[in-house]
Amino acid sequence: MKNFLIKGGRLVDPAQGIDGKFDIAMADGKVSWIGAGEPPKNDYTVIDATNLTVTPGFIDLHTHLRQPGFEEKETISTGTAAAARGGFTTICSMPNTNPAVDNRATVDYVKCVASREAVVRVLPIGCISKGRRGETLAELGEMAGAGVIGFSDDGSPVPGARLMKQAMEYAAGLNLPIIDHCEEPSLAEGGQINEGIVATRLGLAGIPNAAEETMIARDIALAKLTGARLHLCHISSKGSIDLIRAAKTGGLKLTAEVTPHHLTLTEERCLGYDTNAKVNPPLRTYADIEALIGALLDGTIDAIATDHAPHTENDKCCEFALAPFGISGLETAFGSLMKLVHSGKMPLPLIVEKLTAGPARVLGNGFETAGSLKVGNPADLVISDPAAEWIVETAKFASKGKNSPLAGEKLKGKVIVTIYNGNIVHEEDIR
Ligand code: DOR
Repeated sequence: MKNFLIKGGRLVDPAQGIDGKFDIAMADGKVSWIGAGEPPKNDYTVIDATNLTVTPGFIDLHTHLRQPGFEEKETISTGTAAAARGGFTTICSMPNTNPAVDNRATVDYVKCVASREAVVRVLPIGCISKGRRGETLAELGEMAGAGVIGFSDDGSPVPGARLMKQAMEYAAGLNLPIIDHCEEPSLAEGGQINEGIVATRLGLAGIPNAAEETMIARDIALAKLTGARLHLCHISSKGSIDLIRAAKTGGLKLTAEVTPHHLTLTEERCLGYDTNAKVNPPLRTYADIEALIGALLDGTIDAIATDHAPHTENDKCCEFALAPFGISGLETAFGSLMKLVHSGKMPLPLIVEKLTAGPARVLGNGFETAGSLKVGNPADLVISDPAAEWIVETAKFASKGKNSPLAGEKLKGKVIVTIYNGNIVHEEDIR
C-alpha cells in the first residue's frame, strides 16, 4: 500500500467544516494529516490536484448489485467497479436479488463475495419481508447479527400497514432503519411514467404523486407510533417534501434521499418512448425538481443516493410497457449533479455533503467515519474535476447496465481518482 500526499487541491469535507486549499496525506490506509505546510515525514507518492476538488469518498445508500441471481444485469464485481468510477467508496446493496437477501445465509453470501471481489465497501441491506412478498417478516434479528445496515423491500412496497408496524417494532429494537420504498400499490398498479400530460400524450398509464405521498403519510404515522428510524427512498414529488418537512419538525427519526435523475430530469425524457428513462418512482415535473432542490438546501432531504438499477439491453429493448424500471446511475451521478452547481442552483459543498456526511449520518452506528476525512479515518477519498467536460459513453461503463437516459450527452464534472482504504481503485487518464 502506498502513502499518498495530495497537493494543491480544493479540499471540501463538510463533516469538518473544511472548504479551502489544503494538502492531505494518507498513510497505512488512513488519513494522516491535513494542512498547508510540510506534512509529517514519510515516503509519499505525490498527486498534483491543482484545479481539482478533493473530497471524502461518496456513500451510496441505494445500489442494486443484482448478485445473487441476476448476474447478467450486474455482479458485485462490476457494480463496485462502477461505484469506484463514480467516486463511491461505500455502497449499500439492495436485497431484491434472487434469492432475496432475507436471511443470514444470503447476507453472508453477499459479504463473502464482496470480501473477494468488491473494490469498494459493500454494506448489505436485508429484506423486510420474506421473499419481498409483503406477507411475513424476514429474519430481521438474524440479519442484524450478520451485519445488515437496515431493512428494505425496495423495488416493492410493504402493502400491509400491520406488517410494516411489526417490522418497525423489531427494527427499532435492533437500532436499524427501515429503508422505505414508498408506493401505494393500488394507485401505482399498471403505471409506466408520471401521471400527467406526457403520459396522456404517449397513451401510457400514469403513476400519480399520491402513490408515493399516501405511503409516506402512512409510514410517518407508523414511525411515530413505534419510534423506529425511518429512511425514505428516492423521493420524487413536491407533496412528499411537504409531508417530510412537516414530520421532521415533530422530532421523528426520519431521513430521506433523492436521486440525481429525479433532481435533473423531467417526465419529458419519456417523450421518445426511451425505456432508459423509465424508472420507479417516475421522473416528474420542473415544479417537483424545484421542491427537491429546496429540500436539499433546507435539510429536509439528508442524502443523494443513486438507486443504481442496472438492466440488460435485452431487458430494456422492448415496448415501453414491458420494460423494467431502472437507471444505471453510479457512473453519471457526479457529472449530473454538477449541472446543479454550474447552473447556480446548489453550491458544490452542499452536493458533497449530501454524498458524504449526509448519508453517513443516515447510516449512523459508527459508519460516520466513512463520510469524513478526519485524521485517523479510513483513506476513502475522491479527486474530481468540476470543469472537465465529457460525453457519456455507456459502452465504457464498468457497470453491465448500459441503461442510461444520458447516453451521448455532454456532462461537465468528472471523477478523476478514487481512493478506497488507501488504495487507488479508479484513475482517469487525463494528463
Ligand atoms: O427504477 C427502479 N428500479 N426502482 C426501484 O425501486 C427498483 C429498481 C430495480 O431494482 O430495478
